[in-house]
Amino acid sequence: MNESDFIFKNKISLEGFSEWISPSNIALIKYWGKQKNQIPKNPSLSFTLSKSTTKTKVTYGPRLNNKDDFSLDFLFNGKPEPSFVPKIEMFLNRIVRYIPYIKNHHFKIESQNSFPHSSGIASSASSMSSISLGILEVEKKYNTSMTRDFFLKKASFLARLGSGSASRSIYGPISVWGKNSSYKDSSDYYAVDIGNRVNEVFLKYQNTILLVDKSKKKISSTKGHELMETNPYAFERFNQAKKNLKEFKKALSSGDIDNFIKIVESEALSLHGLMLTSNPYFILFKPETLSIINKIWDFRNETKCPICFTLDAGANVHLLYPIEYKKIALKFIKENLLVFCQNGKYINDMVGLGSKKNK
Ligand code: PMV
Repeated sequence: MNESDFIFKNKISLEGFSEWISPSNIALIKYWGKQKNQIPKNPSLSFTLSKSTTKTKVTYGPRLNNKDDFSLDFLFNGKPEPSFVPKIEMFLNRIVRYIPYIKNHHFKIESQNSFPHSSGIASSASSMSSISLGILEVEKKYNTSMTRDFFLKKASFLARLGSGSASRSIYGPISVWGKNSSYKDSSDYYAVDIGNRVNEVFLKYQNTILLVDKSKKKISSTKGHELMETNPYAFERFNQAKKNLKEFKKALSSGDIDNFIKIVESEALSLHGLMLTSNPYFILFKPETLSIINKIWDFRNETKCPICFTLDAGANVHLLYPIEYKKIALKFIKENLLVFCQNGKYINDMVGLGSKKNK
């Protein structure tokens, strides 16, 4: 599908509300570097999570005096949150071309996260995807023949314009965003669900998030993507991600956990390597992050338990393991890794089925 297929042309005036719950996701093949209009420099693939979610209620109604700006109330955890408004307004500016009705409606957007806001877990994927789904409900109410497939694609398309990784949170348990030769139906404009193309071992994969540092990132992902424009390793990195995705596809479909681990850990370290080699350079991991990684490697060598790690753009560590190792992994985590977490905090999550409508 083309970008122009997502432009809605009718003038509508409706009222109503909807509520969507969208999960966060953790990339295994990382997106880092983009072109204009939120087009990724390389394809990415992620596990959609299950418990780490944002619930968003979108209430809308016709706007009486039509002005050129947006009419928006945004509440986070029941309270006005002015610091989020510029990001949402930027998002609305990007999507107005595709859903012009956001100018002649008033929107009240009320969001709540299931995880603590200041946990260092990126909430842009879950929040932008839930807001997109809610706002797109207006078009769906008008166009009653809209298919579920198109609705989700367009929601993913809109979410991408808020935050690239948000495009992947629409679907679960595993999705791919960014045109590539490994998945023929992939697109730079929206994510696709590849859950039915992977071995069943990955459909119940566990993700324990160790909260090493809960403070706000010193460098935003927007800035990080931008720095890829001058990173001397950028070209090689974009090729590496494409090659990794090809190999990863094989590991995912055959259930080859050894290769899964090799690619996942290499992708995590490559992402942070790009940060180390940016100009200006920066470091987002902490000494505790490295201690955890070393403990995981020792434990895996000694026990052959196939537990591995990935990192997002921050210091927290995402541990990944098959569900049948849950007991032994949790024992290891509690006894050896919680000492590296801020206030011993962690979140036990697992892959989930994507966004769902609540009301
Ligand atoms: O969606 P953004 O613009 O916040 O970028 C996300 C970048 C990473 O989380 C580091 C990787 C990814 O693919 O999710």
